[in-house]
Amino acid sequence: MLSHKQIELKLQAAVRDILPDADVSAVLVRPCDPKFGDYQSNALMSLAKTRKLNPRQLATEVLAKLEVSETCETVEIAGAGFLNFRLKNSVLTQSLEAAARGEHLFFEKTASPKTVVIDFSSPNVAKPMHVGHIRSTGIGDALQRTWRLLGHRVITDNHIGDWGTQFGKLLLGWKQALDRAALERDAITELERLYKVINAECDANPERLEEAKAELVKLQAGDAENHSIWEEMIRLSQIQFDAIYARLGVKFDHALGESFYNRWLGEVVNDLLHRGIARESEGAVGVFSDGSLPPKEDPFLVNRDGEWIDDPALVRKSDGGFNYTTTDLATIDYRLKTWSPDEIIYVVDDRQGPHFKKLFIIFTRWQPDRAKKVKLVHAGFGKILGDDGKPFKTRSGDTVKLSDLLVEAEERAFKIVSEKNAELPEAERREIARVIGIGAVKYADLLPNRQSDYIFSWDKMLALQGNTAPYLLYAYARIRSIFRKAAESSAIQLPTTNIQLSAPEEFRLARHLVNFGLTLEAVADELRPNYLCNYLFELAGKFTSFYENCPVLKAGDAATRASRLALCDLTARVLKQGLETLGIATVEQM
Ligand code: ARG
Repeated sequence: MLSHKQIELKLQAAVRDILPDADVSAVLVRPCDPKFGDYQSNALMSLAKTRKLNPRQLATEVLAKLEVSETCETVEIAGAGFLNFRLKNSVLTQSLEAAARGEHLFFEKTASPKTVVIDFSSPNVAKPMHVGHIRSTGIGDALQRTWRLLGHRVITDNHIGDWGTQFGKLLLGWKQALDRAALERDAITELERLYKVINAECDANPERLEEAKAELVKLQAGDAENHSIWEEMIRLSQIQFDAIYARLGVKFDHALGESFYNRWLGEVVNDLLHRGIARESEGAVGVFSDGSLPPKEDPFLVNRDGEWIDDPALVRKSDGGFNYTTTDLATIDYRLKTWSPDEIIYVVDDRQGPHFKKLFIIFTRWQPDRAKKVKLVHAGFGKILGDDGKPFKTRSGDTVKLSDLLVEAEERAFKIVSEKNAELPEAERREIARVIGIGAVKYADLLPNRQSDYIFSWDKMLALQGNTAPYLLYAYARIRSIFRKAAESSAIQLPTTNIQLSAPEEFRLARHLVNFGLTLEAVADELRPNYLCNYLFELAGKFTSFYENCPVLKAGDAATRASRLALCDLTARVLKQGLETLGIATVEQM
């Protein structure tokens, strides 16, 4: 068992000794500022707080019961009641040696695997994927990779927007204004154009709007012609989505679009009405506040000029059509029935925060017993901004298409790679540029705390210095080049499983390496891939100071050389695994 796990279990046991009824599942250890130790736990402070105990007093009592002398040099109470642990050097060395033997890579599979559904990407049919889709797609993919790596059962589901009022206009456009040649050249652009044309006509002319609505009603009633045009629009969109996913290296277990849930929507609304959870209002059906929350926290209320008024979640429109919320309710029901998840995570724009708040509350009112068994989480994220601090747009003010953005990323990376490595054959430079370009866009998006807005900057994300993908990819490639050099020289130079740490830079690197698993756990717990980005950036930095201060291939004696090569190898493996977990590929040479 990895030492941080051992410490955690011992700490949980000690807490149970002192507070037999405490829920120790939140008693965790986390990486610590190296000044104070290797691991830290702040759990005693929150336990003390809920029980109105003195936290330092509680820490003292727990410490008296805590038996970690096998793994720790010291355990100290610090500040308001933190516990700081410092690993024994021998334990550190053993962990590195086990990793060098291939027994682990500083993480292990969880002892209590969960089943989790991750709903991410979820673009809309007949519209191009735009720059904003990198957020849900990249964050969702990094999360699903992390959960899987830690041994959880993960089900990814792309909740494609393939149903809704836009199809009335699209159908009308398809029948009356379709440019076949344009459709063949670039289907999504043509569908987008059709929508815009008809939309403008509908705005100007109520009769056109009625025509569009009639097409929608026909589609919903199962009209054969409309149904087959609709299917064709989905098929064409899916081709575009698949091309982008292939480029990004993203896969889904399922892509059950909104339309999949149509068959249940009527039942859902009837059941909500029957149970008194929804009621009719002005011809529509909605769910309203039940008064159980203070108005400020109640998503079914909004404040207008100092007065709280209803802001219901509509589940059926006055024309009989159903809403986004209705589909999402049927979707939760289906997912629970089909996969029995412990958690459902929605990686969706923060602007949909109110929708998810309402959705989770309605589901809890609707199916209270099942709701108790599943954790519903909205992992929201902020916006991508341009230099001017406004939402990122093209020069002409249009939304940036994701496919154009990815092409540009590869082009820009190709220029940089060609300047640095003019001698490499073009095909190789193209491949390196592909990895760097896509990696840079993904990394720049994963690095900020997901709820913050960030400013899109080509120069920043493609820089070889700073917290960027190219910097990490370069750090990885540089280590690989050490091994290429080692292989060239005649003396046999292989990393060893016999690790000797002596220089302070070696210790610093080693102590950081063993924190990889804890970092992955923190990413999964808090749904924050940025923790992993920062971990890898620090790893590369610690490796650099190690490499600058500790000769590797030129080390005086063979044992030191082999031990240092092992540190190089472990660093490279963690970098590669870490980047892969973020959905970023690596190259052996840059
Ligand atoms: N298609 C939706 C949109 O573009 C996102 C869907 C998110 N997932 C969900 N289950 N609501 O806004």
